[in-house]
Amino acid sequence: MTSGATVWLTGLPSAGKTTIAYELAGRLREEGHLVEVLDGDEIREFISAGLGFSREDRHTNVQRIGYVAELLARNGVKALVPVIAPYTDSRDAVRKRHETNGTPYLEVHVATPVEVCSVRDVKGLYAKQAAGELTGLTGVDDPYEEPEAPDLRIESQNQTVQESAASLYTLLTERGLA
Ligand SMILES: Nc1ncnc2c1ncn2[C@@H]1O[C@H](COP(=O)(O)OP(=O)(O)O)[C@@H](O)[C@H]1O
Ligand SMILES: [Mg+2]
Repeated sequence: MTSGATVWLTGLPSAGKTTIAYELAGRLREEGHLVEVLDGDEIREFISAGLGFSREDRHTNVQRIGYVAELLARNGVKALVPVIAPYTDSRDAVRKRHETNGTPYLEVHVATPVEVCSVRDVKGLYAKQAAGELTGLTGVDDPYEEPEAPDLRIESQNQTVQESAASLYTLLTERGLA
């Protein structure tokens, strides 16, 4: 059995985290890997139901997802996690949990600039924020602490979804994980 791993895709809303994660998931499944995608929006309906978007709740959300991802990854699954995770200390705690358990962990910054994200605006959040119908939007009026040393930085504004997924696949290969 090939090794499991957690691949965390962090970045702003509409950066492309979910799209790239599912593209990679398809490619990995074709190659016979076990894969799960732990998508932020889905998680918030179930294991993080009731949590909001305060700093504390965002931290709790990320720790819960990190816990589940590590359980999957240590059992041979590629756990792909397209979740904003705006705070460095939250992300570092997840990395540490993986290191403690000897479970491979990769941090990927989907570094699409806010100017591009706000035009994509998949869920209409940027428009709502601009219209004053929503506050606390990551990267606009809520913090996003950029990863300083991610394992990979993806500039989705300069490449196709397939190219982004391919660069991630290459990284997994280089690390002996695919
Ligand atoms: N190279 C690219 N990588 C990822 N998404 C892209 C790319 N180019 C355009 N897009 C589009 O940007 C949007 C990203 O949305 P989504 O994946 O839901 O973002 P997030 O999960 O980060 O909020 C999708 O509509 C996707 O088709
Ligand atoms: Mg998403």
